[in-house]
Amino acid sequence: MVLIDGKKTSEILQSEIADEVVRIKELGGRVPHLAAVLVGSDGASETYVSGKVKACERVGFKSTLIRFDENVTESELLNCVTQLNNDADLDGFIVQLPLPKHISENKVVEAINPQKDVDGFHAVNVGRMVVGMSAFISATPFGIMELIKRYKIETSGKNCVVIGRSNIVGRPMSILLSQKGIDCTVTLCHSRTKNLKEICYQADIIVAALGMAEFLTGDMVKEGAVVIDVGITRVRSDKTKSGWKLLGDVKFDEVAPKCSFITPVPGGVGPMTIAALLYNTLLSSKKEVYQ
Ligand code: GUN
Repeated sequence: MVLIDGKKTSEILQSEIADEVVRIKELGGRVPHLAAVLVGSDGASETYVSGKVKACERVGFKSTLIRFDENVTESELLNCVTQLNNDADLDGFIVQLPLPKHISENKVVEAINPQKDVDGFHAVNVGRMVVGMSAFISATPFGIMELIKRYKIETSGKNCVVIGRSNIVGRPMSILLSQKGIDCTVTLCHSRTKNLKEICYQADIIVAALGMAEFLTGDMVKEGAVVIDVGITRVRSDKTKSGWKLLGDVKFDEVAPKCSFITPVPGGVGPMTIAALLYNTLLSSKKEVYQ
């Protein structure tokens, strides 16, 4: 069994990005510039956004953090998005989700210029991905595809089961895995799927992205399967200093011994997402997605 090291792979990808920034500077170019918009003071969002800003510093990008009080109105936020769309010094920006209930996330995401949507959430980027055009791919699916490629996991003709149909992970994963060149036969499962256990047991590759701690158990996985765990559920623990631990969607102790490859939680898919965002920002600065 090979434990897929997302932390190490993310560090390698980030050092490749940093090398590219050095080259850009040597040639007298502008360094990539990413902005993040953070509304309110949700603890998890604060942590994610500060991780993104720190990662920008590590690879030599310019970064800008724009904060709003949680009482910001939808139109104030939309004005900010328009300003960022028109800011020629900016290669890309993200609006950290979730937003407060009084603001429509769809409206805000759809107001972002797709050419600066380095999160890959805008319908134009999703649509371009579906038809196989170059697009900004959202961070988690991008990170998983990168792990599959870098670990040289065979995909052609393999049966792949994706559990979870979210717009950000499950659905784009199902599209990317079925693309020409990757060539999996994909089954997309969700909360209404019948015989999920039997379907999973047929899979060569399982992507568990439903957000239920330790859902995928040993009896659902065949010998030699590849298992990608996207879950991160925080639960109380008296065994850690912080009093919390992270659980994936996979019952790791049962599933891992049966696998050819598996991602751990933490240290698997999670660390790849920041590297993916940086990579999208680099692509944007080089105008390599929309020509
Ligand atoms: N909230 C949780 N993950 C993400 C992400 O990747 N991008 C944004 N904008 N918000 C998030």
